Amino acid sequence: MTGAVRIAASILAADFARLNEQVGAAQGGGADSIHVDVMDGRFVPEISIGPVIIDAVRRSTSLPVDVHLMIVEPDRQLDRCVRSGASSITVHVEAARHLHRVIQQIKDLGAKACVALNPATPLVTVEPMLGELDMVLLMTVNPGYAGQRFIPAVLPKVRQLREWIATHGLALDVQVDGGINESTAAQAVAAGANVLVAASAIFQSEGGIEASVRRLRQAALAAEIRK
Ligand code: DX5
Ligand code: ZN
Repeated sequence: MTGAVRIAASILAADFARLNEQVGAAQGGGADSIHVDVMDGRFVPEISIGPVIIDAVRRSTSLPVDVHLMIVEPDRQLDRCVRSGASSITVHVEAARHLHRVIQQIKDLGAKACVALNPATPLVTVEPMLGELDMVLLMTVNPGYAGQRFIPAVLPKVRQLREWIATHGLALDVQVDGGINESTAAQAVAAGANVLVAASAIFQSEGGIEASVRRLRQAALAAEIRK
C-alpha cells in the first residue's frame, strides 16, 4: 500500500446550482480530492462537463482536482485541463491511440498521469506502462453515469494489480470508480484499492455530504484494519 486510503468526491452527482458549497462540504468532510468526470458523448453516451467546470472547482477548493477524461482523442484536451487546474489526469486505455505518448504529455504538463481500464479490459493492456504511471483506475462500473451498481468481477483485477505493484516495487495508487458505497468500499480496499471515487454515496446520500464522506472513510479504515 502507498499509505492510508484516500477518498475522491466525484461531483457528477452534485447539485450544480450549488457546486461551490457542495465541493466545500466534501472538503469539510475530509475528502482528499475532487474528481471531475469529463464525458464527450462519443467514448461514453452522455456529454457531461468540461474545462469551465474544472475552473470553477479549482476556485472552490484547495484539494487536488482529479480529472477523469471519458473522451476520445484525450491528447487534444490535456493542456486545457492542466491550465484549468487539474492536478491529475486520467485517460482511458480504450480511448488513447498512443497511450505512452499521452502519458508523457500529461507528465510534461506537470500533472500526475493515470490510466483507466473499463471493467472488461484486461490488466495486461496497462502492464508495460506501470512504471510510468502515478495511478491506475480500475472502473467498477461501465463508464458514463453516476448511480450504477458496482461490478464485483473487477475485484480480482484489483488484487492482481496490487500484487504486480508489490512484485515490481512500484508506488502507484490503485483507484476504483463506480458504485462505491460503504459496503463496496470495504470490498475494494480489502482487494487492494487505496483511492475510492464516489459520487452518489457522497452527494446524494441521506445525512448530508460531510457525514457521508466520514462514513466512507470509516468503512475504508475498518477494511484496512481487517486486512
Ligand atoms: C462514471 C464516473 C464516476 C461516477 C461515479 O462513469 O466515472 O466517477 O461519477 O458515480 P457513483 O459513485 O454514483 O457510481
Ligand atoms: Zn470517474
